[in-house]
Amino acid sequence: MKSPIPSFLKKALLATALLSAGHAYAADTAGIVVYNAQHESLTKSWVEGFTQETGIPVTLRNGDDTEMGNQIVQEGADSPADVFLTENSPAMVLVDNAGLFAPVDKTTLEQVDSAYRPAHGKWLGIAARSTVFVYNPSKLSEAQLPKSIMDLAAPNWKGRWGASPGGADFQAIVAAMIEQKGEAATLEWLKAMKTNFSAYRGNSSVLKAVNAGQIDSGVIYHYYSFVDQAKTGENSKNTALHYFKHKDPGAFVSISGGGVLASSKHKEQAQAFLKWITGKDGQAILKDGKSFEYAVGKNAESNPKLVPLQQLDAPSVDASKLDSRKAVELMTQAGLL
Ligand SMILES: [Fe+2]
Repeated sequence: MKSPIPSFLKKALLATALLSAGHAYAADTAGIVVYNAQHESLTKSWVEGFTQETGIPVTLRNGDDTEMGNQIVQEGADSPADVFLTENSPAMVLVDNAGLFAPVDKTTLEQVDSAYRPAHGKWLGIAARSTVFVYNPSKLSEAQLPKSIMDLAAPNWKGRWGASPGGADFQAIVAAMIEQKGEAATLEWLKAMKTNFSAYRGNSSVLKAVNAGQIDSGVIYHYYSFVDQAKTGENSKNTALHYFKHKDPGAFVSISGGGVLASSKHKEQAQAFLKWITGKDGQAILKDGKSFEYAVGKNAESNPKLVPLQQLDAPSVDASKLDSRKAVELMTQAGLL
């Protein structure tokens, strides 16, 4: 009786099986998958530098904080992710609360200033960004500037400021406000915000609207303005930045996080990646590149165009407690989402 599988096909099948086994082996030893919610251009620079130095290939899967955080939680132990990088802390907290992070290597933790990493060491800061009040000086004089972000709830601010409530950036600011002021006060502020503010999609749109005189002011992160200034300045030339300082909730500095997944099968390489981006070369990319985010490494310098991080007088907020679900819940209750 003739075999149902012709011999040439048998050979082909065998070759395919060997090839895929080879692939599995290669993936096991030679590369990591990074779920990246940081700005793609910044992470790409990190990956290029890391791969060049270590020879370890990195596959990037890009998305936003909430989307990728939820995806990792859903995937659980089956997640293909070796490393998770975010724009803000709440998505790190989401994954951490699900118990999915492996402890970060001690030598890596020690590279980062203790103010920019949670004490438990399950993840750490890789960069930082400051909340800022952007305004159009032809609409608002310095004397009219708010002393606190909380002032923006007052009736005289009605119709005069904008924000991007749907984004993880603004939601991190809200999560920090909950930590500082409590749920009740934050909810009250959010309800007043709903009455007073104009909604935009993304911080860049807020900046653009302020620049164009469509709205007097807005709450964004600092780098949107610096990035635009470094290009043509066309979306920021009519704007100025006001830092709230004085440990105000509006002076919140948000920590971008990095962590290694407990389910990673390439932990050594994943840990090496975190070590590299928080080390001298990785942090220098923040100083010399075009991201304009703050460096968080010990003795690492940020771009000299920025107001130094130490001068921002940011509130001390425990990044490991920032609760995105609670922030979203209160924002939904206030009709913002
Ligand atoms: Fe951003």
